[in-house]
Amino acid sequence: MNSDSSFAIPVVTIDGPGGAGKGTLAAAIAEARSWHLLDSGALYRIIAVVALRQGFPLRDAASLAALCSELQIVFGAGSVTVNGDDLTDAIRTEDAGSAASVVAALPPVREAILTLQQEFRRAPGLVADGRDMGTVVFPDAPVKIFLDASAEARAERRYNQLKNKGLGVSLRALLEQIQERDARDRERAVAPLRPAEDALIIDSTEMSIDAVVAMVMEQIVRKTG
Ligand code: C5P
Repeated sequence: MNSDSSFAIPVVTIDGPGGAGKGTLAAAIAEARSWHLLDSGALYRIIAVVALRQGFPLRDAASLAALCSELQIVFGAGSVTVNGDDLTDAIRTEDAGSAASVVAALPPVREAILTLQQEFRRAPGLVADGRDMGTVVFPDAPVKIFLDASAEARAERRYNQLKNKGLGVSLRALLEQIQERDARDRERAVAPLRPAEDALIIDSTEMSIDAVVAMVMEQIVRKTG
């Protein structure tokens, strides 16, 4: 849906680097307002995982863009099914995130899923989480947030999450992977990670998630009522 009427539907965009807490923030806001949620990173992760499973090279832009049109994606409560396969866990690995950032640098892939993302804009409102939500996909969004945190803080949060799941990982390896993905996302030619000019920039390095949610809720009330 990209008709004129859809532009009246409020959107909160939440962009920023991986591990800054965008997903948690977006889910909290969507729940508080009973709005729809778009996890655009999940789409790039799905494309990467399906491409790897089907044996496509991750830089084969034409094949990957064609693949996008064949994906039947169903987001459930905490799950995602693609062409009937449950990919919920497969898309959440660090490797899937890194592979996603490789396919996400290809303009034909970004073009292929642009409309799909815009179709998530449905009443009463949408919270959209990603890298280019405020700059490219929903440039007219009334509320734009850029959520940042130091690479060290993001690596440490991820490390603790994985440790709590009983998974042994190296903090240093996580930090390197995060820095490599940041560089690829910030330096790519198309839709690079950067705050929209009218975005509120929040550095969550020293903030609790509750404090971030409160700050964003205040901004939403101020801008959309
Ligand atoms: O947010 P998440 O870590 O799931 O995103 C995985 C990757 O997908 C990012 O590192 C980025 O390269 C890509 N991405 C993007 N644009 C978005 C969302 C994600 O390029 N809107």
